[in-house]
Amino acid sequence: MSKPFPNSMDFGGYNAPSRVECDVYDLVIEGEVPEEINGSWFRSIPDPQYAPMLGDDTYLSGDGMVSLFRFENGHVDYRMRYVQTERWKNERKARRSLYGLYRNPYTDDPSVRGKSRSVANTTPIFHGGRLLALKEDARGWELDPVTLATRGEWDYHGKLRSQTMTAHTRLDPQTGELYFFGYEASGLASRDVSYCVADRNGNLKREEWFQVPYCSLMHDFSVTKEHAIFPVFPSTADLGRIKAGGPHWIWDPTKDTYVGIMPRDGSVKDMRWFRGPPTSGFHFMNSYTEGSKVHLDFSAGKVNPFPFIQQASNIHVNPAEMGGDYVRWTFDLSKPSERWEEYKIGPSGEMPRIAEKDFMVDYDIGYYETYDPTAGPPLIAGPVGAGFNTLLRLEVKSGRTTKLAMPPGATVQEEVHIASKKPGHEGYLAFVVDQHERNLSEMWLVEAQHLEKGPIARVQIPLRLRVAVHGNWVPAEQLAG
Ligand SMILES: [Fe+2]
Repeated sequence: MSKPFPNSMDFGGYNAPSRVECDVYDLVIEGEVPEEINGSWFRSIPDPQYAPMLGDDTYLSGDGMVSLFRFENGHVDYRMRYVQTERWKNERKARRSLYGLYRNPYTDDPSVRGKSRSVANTTPIFHGGRLLALKEDARGWELDPVTLATRGEWDYHGKLRSQTMTAHTRLDPQTGELYFFGYEASGLASRDVSYCVADRNGNLKREEWFQVPYCSLMHDFSVTKEHAIFPVFPSTADLGRIKAGGPHWIWDPTKDTYVGIMPRDGSVKDMRWFRGPPTSGFHFMNSYTEGSKVHLDFSAGKVNPFPFIQQASNIHVNPAEMGGDYVRWTFDLSKPSERWEEYKIGPSGEMPRIAEKDFMVDYDIGYYETYDPTAGPPLIAGPVGAGFNTLLRLEVKSGRTTKLAMPPGATVQEEVHIASKKPGHEGYLAFVVDQHERNLSEMWLVEAQHLEKGPIARVQIPLRLRVAVHGNWVPAEQLAG
């Protein structure tokens, strides 16, 4: 018998765990999937095998489930498999949860003390011929890109010293190099951060370490053609608190925000630190270098958005007041000031994506999601509570936006951009639509340039897909090597 899950925000309603591994051949499609779309869209879904050992937990602790939409000549097949981490295997064997609080090994069952806690549940990436399931508190796990069978933990042939690897790596599409980092690189709550580069074949060619001003939840970073940018926002960890069985993360607005910028192919010794008021940031849409200036575009929030972190920090925030603007921070490396300039570039929102051709360079088009109260009341979906209900297309330079609102009773998951081979075509966006009343999901495909016109194809999924964190598109020719 398996214990029931709590009926909390993280495990109730549309967020109820699914635990379904499946194959569905030829999903039913309303409309038409263009034949030029060939490839695999991998997504990571936190989906716990067992109810939390300590009664409640966060969505973010869920075991990694990798979801695969495979597009071929107008058809779409679906596959979903657990990442069989050491944690997953230990709990499977015990037929119950053995791991305690989020990122606190001191709260685990004694039978798993010192064993890997990784759930590999945040982002699947394909690089150097390998599919890796990543989560920032550990190294990645490698999966077979066709069968999704787990191959094992990936440490770059034993070369990676960092104990952690971000789920937000940065690809240079011209060189094929993968830039990444790992915070808490030497262990829990440490200030050590690794900075790593893998060549196009997936060989680790450099790893350097540096220290941040304080241990921070460094969820993402950004890289331009010339610089690497490491923002340090004040969601902080403390080893003493963790050892005492407390929460890993606390929002601490007494601390400043720091942003470290270094030449991306230089040394961490050349890191220059900028400093400003406390800000919450999670995902950087893009960044680029223009002369002596470095531009960084993202959603700047006022506090950490996760309810379990707010609760641990003893803060109570009206969700409507949490979101900040979409902003550009510009750092002028020719000036001695430790501050940056901030410009509003769009309405609040999250889960940004851009076309791969625009990575790291001056660009104009970004896509992200927002919650529009005029499109319907908030619905619980995903790890921060209310799900997004509107997809936005932002022209960064003019601020012009177009949008697609979901129908009433629906929320939208992170979109992915799929390039078109047709000249002048902006490509496509695919995203999962959560249909709360039917307790089922659909996958919609829109033309990116005309997203306000709605889907050109609605792909029906005969089950409810729990809300994924991130995904990536891999063209068929790249998968074939
Ligand atoms: Fe993320």
